[in-house]
Amino acid sequence: LKPNPTYNLMIEPIQPLRDNLDSIVYSQFHKDFVKYEQYKRAIELALTDLDGTADILNILIVGPGEGGIVDKLIDILKIMSLKVKITAYEKNPKCTQILKDKNRSLWDNLVDIKIEDIRTSNLERQDLVISELLGSFGDNEACPEILSFFNIPENRPKIMIPESYTSYLQPVFTSLDPPSLQRPYLVHLTKFYPIDEPQEVWTFEHPSDSSSAQRSTNLKFRNTNIAKCISGFYGHFSATLYGHIQIQIESKSRYNFCNSWYPIFFPVSKTDLARDEVFNFEIARYSNSDQLWYEWNFKDKTYNKNGNTYVIDL
Ligand SMILES: C[S@@+](CC[C@H](N)C(=O)[O-])C[C@H]1O[C@@H](n2cnc3c(N)ncnc32)[C@H](O)[C@@H]1O
Repeated sequence: LKPNPTYNLMIEPIQPLRDNLDSIVYSQFHKDFVKYEQYKRAIELALTDLDGTADILNILIVGPGEGGIVDKLIDILKIMSLKVKITAYEKNPKCTQILKDKNRSLWDNLVDIKIEDIRTSNLERQDLVISELLGSFGDNEACPEILSFFNIPENRPKIMIPESYTSYLQPVFTSLDPPSLQRPYLVHLTKFYPIDEPQEVWTFEHPSDSSSAQRSTNLKFRNTNIAKCISGFYGHFSATLYGHIQIQIESKSRYNFCNSWYPIFFPVSKTDLARDEVFNFEIARYSNSDQLWYEWNFKDKTYNKNGNTYVIDL
């Protein structure tokens, strides 16, 4: 078996809000069979629950990309007889042609396609809002900020998919040296030493009662003595799409594993740990109107203070 050449490389996380993704990236997403099947199940369940709640159901897709999730929505609507009005907002003009072609040839022109940023658009009240704006750490592609409009009581949709997502971190040792200790990377490590089990970091819900997308948490871990040294914190997310339908990127051996995300890695200076040592890790998520960033603190050293090295542009 050939080793995957992208494993064990510290990769720059994509920023789909700032950058316009190329078709080749969407093709990679579309290989994630589990993700689209789980979205299909979640949408089917949501539409079953919404059936009969309005004469016409308003359905909004935020960021359809090249339409993988819309394909699933249309498949379901071919079976369920529902009156719907579907609008899709995609800010990437590189997707215009394929979305229009699919609308004509596969979707019976059912979708009103807008090539616009959802944050600057005029929206009607929605029954169902479907998005996939998740990064490897859940909220690191600015999903909470992009969807914040729907937290305002008069804009609240009846159902949002995903309805929540949770980030996790695990202390690890890897011999790989990241180019900078002051910023996160995406990396699929084939060899690493777990120091302790992963722990939940924080959760975001949609819609949310809180308008704040700032978070901070202090995690306490214990050295389980598999390694003597720590070099960083390995992160992933799980999401509840709707009801009991979930996706996760942590473990191939568990249900609902999606293979289109690599884990995230927050480096720290390599530090020896004593046997059974208990240690803390603090991490915070900050945002202002232009940017969001993470700051983390381990053994009295703060990394990426004030987003000095790494930010996600809004
Ligand atoms: C991770 S991709 C997912 C694409 C598609 N939903 C899928 O699962 O195949 C996120 C998409 O959301 C779009 N996007 C991000 N922020 C947006 C915004 N504020 N308004 C509209 N589209 C946005 C990006 O251009 C990108 O196409």
